[in-house]
Amino acid sequence: MNLLVLNGVNLNLTGRREKGVYGSETLEQINAELRAFAEAHGAHADFYQSNLEGELCTAIQNAEGVYDGIILNAGAFTHYSYAIRDAIAAVSVPVVEVHMSNVHAREEFRRNSVLTPVCRGEILGFGKKSYILAMESFLV
Ligand code: DQA
Repeated sequence: MNLLVLNGVNLNLTGRREKGVYGSETLEQINAELRAFAEAHGAHADFYQSNLEGELCTAIQNAEGVYDGIILNAGAFTHYSYAIRDAIAAVSVPVVEVHMSNVHAREEFRRNSVLTPVCRGEILGFGKKSYILAMESFLV
């Protein structure tokens, strides 16, 4: 099982921005935990973060035939990126959408995801554990 953990815009600031919402662990620390979790289940995980919409689309396109699943936190792109939505729809690799915060308990604009309809599922509101639970959906 080969998994890609993909993080979008501003997720590189995790651990430094809005700690009350996203926690104080950095993305690197969360990724290290995810890597260990994957390996403990006999799987492999790669990690990629970009603040650029097109780079995330390219990463999704390139996942075809390489990865068995993508764990995607697209950040604010979630709410308006038809380009990322189309990239997900274009590949056969299943994508699980992730959010650390409970987007439904926040601003109105966060309640809508244009990605969910083309994702296998969505996990949100559990902080870094959202990523672990998403990974578990592929592994267990
Ligand atoms: C987020 C929620 C988004 O609304 C926000 O723009 C983010 C992070 C989350 O993980 O809770 O950047 O995807």
